[in-house]
Amino acid sequence: MPSDPWREERRVVAGAQPAGHRLKGILYRLRNPALVGDTAVRAATGSWHLISPSEFSNLYRRVRGHTVCSVARLRGLHEGVKYVVGKHIEGDVVECGCARGGSAALMALSLRQSGERRTLWLFDTFEGLPAPTADDPDYEIAELFTGSCLGRLEEVRELFREQGVAQGVRFVKGLFQDTIPKSAIERIALLHIDGDWYESVKVCLEQLYDKVVPGGIIQFDDYGYWKGARKAVDEFLAKRKINVPLKKLDYSGRSIRKASA
Ligand SMILES: C[S@@+](CC[C@H](N)C(=O)[O-])C[C@H]1O[C@@H](n2cnc3c(N)ncnc32)[C@H](O)[C@@H]1O
Repeated sequence: MPSDPWREERRVVAGAQPAGHRLKGILYRLRNPALVGDTAVRAATGSWHLISPSEFSNLYRRVRGHTVCSVARLRGLHEGVKYVVGKHIEGDVVECGCARGGSAALMALSLRQSGERRTLWLFDTFEGLPAPTADDPDYEIAELFTGSCLGRLEEVRELFREQGVAQGVRFVKGLFQDTIPKSAIERIALLHIDGDWYESVKVCLEQLYDKVVPGGIIQFDDYGYWKGARKAVDEFLAKRKINVPLKKLDYSGRSIRKASA
């Protein structure tokens, strides 16, 4: 059994995209000096966490092969879990967009390390990214990523079993637009929105923001990276007149803490 039995499938899916798409995506990003700088910092800090004995680094090493999230954003999730547990902020932990499960597994491991049992909801197509829409300002580049970030449901389940954190995890397969409105979530302490596109981020906020309890945390993975994600967040906060500071985690990641009642 190869160590990553799904690798070949992902390679085939990536290879099915028209030649040059990936290169076009890389060249587009290279035109952005802030992103290039961030990537360099990411490489350097990532290396440190390979040897650091810290609590976070130990968990990071367990999931890093299963995530595209940066160290800073993973650390944001780890600290988010510790915060809601430490402050006794009640509610579930929810991730919209888990792909191969790395960031979600990190949250599950952080919960276990904090001695806490909470339901962890994971929403994804488990078939890769859906297509962006005309509401994504960078549609031309974004559409090249349709079908990428593929993490199969069975692959993610296996990661959770391997890490010993499968208990209490609710995997929900399908488009956020179809699955989230039907879910039985009542209260959320920590919400991680990592769906890349305008429509995906918008539906998560519209459906889940009100379930985040006062003092709860919402982390956005793609605010700096994808223009549609940023647009959805900015529009939602403006429409609802929500005036809380967006904490910058790195080039792309942001988080907010919902005001206490
Ligand atoms: C960048 S990946 C998530 C990365 C992941 N958090 C990690 O640790 O690597 C984005 C994920 O969001 C999912 N996604 C985006 N929009 C979606 C939608 N509307 N419905 C369901 N899943 C969606 C994709 O399938 C993909 O797996």
